Amino acid sequence: MEAKLMQLQSFCILLLMVLGIIVRRRRKAHVRIMTVAMMWDVILILQIELSRSAILTATKALSNALILNIHISIAVSTVILYGFMIYTGKKMLAGEVRIRSKHRILGYSTFFMRVLTFITSFWAVVPKE
Ligand code: HEM
Repeated sequence: MEAKLMQLQSFCILLLMVLGIIVRRRRKAHVRIMTVAMMWDVILILQIELSRSAILTATKALSNALILNIHISIAVSTVILYGFMIYTGKKMLAGEVRIRSKHRILGYSTFFMRVLTFITSFWAVVPKE
């Protein structure tokens, strides 16, 4: 049940990101939506870390440690990419136009990694016997 609630939040974060990309030309809306999406994602990771049952579920998935490690590695990379998005986004707001193509490539890569995080979360959750 708890895992389902977390995956539902994860899906909502993805939808927010899609919305943020759709409104990418409207700066104010884009920055607000992406900030909320990234903050919610970090809060979601904290919820997962602090939830005892989620950790127990993950421990069960240890029978397939490789799959769990792949999921965690992708999730961590996504959060690292958030740092680059904030850095390049702030530069753009400060008027550095040349960084735009970097922000765009990193932006679509970050979104792609976030989709992979969502997909692989289904591998990491082991159904209760
Ligand atoms: C996961 C987070 C984010 C993603 C996936 C993302 C993605 C994108 C994409 C795809 C564009 C369009 C670039 C183009 O077509 O040239 C864009 C534009 C932009 N982004 Fe982001 N972004 C993110 C976060 C941020 C943040 C945190 C900031 C600010 C601190 C920001 C500031 C901007 C600005 C200023 C633009 C240009 C808007 C304009 O056309 O005037 N972005 N972003």
